Amino acid sequence: MNLKLRPCTNEDLESILFIEESSFKDPWTKNAFYSELCDDSGCSRCLVVEDPSCSVIGYIVYQKILDEIYVKKVAVHSQMRKRGIGHFIFFNLFKEAKEDGVFKIVLDCDVTNVEALRFYKDLGFQQVSEANRDGSLRLENKIGAAT
Ligand SMILES: CC(C)(COP(=O)(O)OP(=O)(O)OC[C@H]1O[C@@H](n2cnc3c(N)ncnc32)[C@H](O)[C@@H]1OP(=O)(O)O)[C@@H](O)C(=O)NCCC(=O)NCCS
Repeated sequence: MNLKLRPCTNEDLESILFIEESSFKDPWTKNAFYSELCDDSGCSRCLVVEDPSCSVIGYIVYQKILDEIYVKKVAVHSQMRKRGIGHFIFFNLFKEAKEDGVFKIVLDCDVTNVEALRFYKDLGFQQVSEANRDGSLRLENKIGAAT
């Protein structure tokens, strides 16, 4: 499939919300995404995946601070999963990280989210903490060590 990863715009927010609400039991609101788009610190980025018909089928929100990237959100449309779109998103992130001298990518994943944990492990992420109070595990990928 010919996929495109591009910066999110206000026009994408409804599509993102649809995916968000069907992916998470405690979804972000439209305002939460909007404030990421308006972040003027220059650290936050929100990218969407477009399929050949220009439909938004996934997204990632992350922050780049010095030599680290923290992934705040990532999701793929439920009907489009297990087709390599998640890998496409992360391979692009790894490429950007390497080009920008980022040392590691960090994220938190719910301990019950078995599918996502397997997905991250396959991408070379390693667990670096026991479960946090909110039931999430911290995972890290040291750029260059895997992938
Ligand atoms: C986690 C998530 C982003 C992964 O996205 P995805 O597009 O399904 O990811 P991929 O298709 O690249 O990989 C998923 C699995 O499908 C497999 N796969 C990829 N292409 C495939 C294909 N053509 N046929 C069969 N399997 C395939 C991958 O090998 C991978 O297997 P693994 O988990 O055993 O490693 C997605 O499941 C999601 O949106 N989940 C809900 C939101 C969420 O939990 N986000 C993470 C919060 S921390």
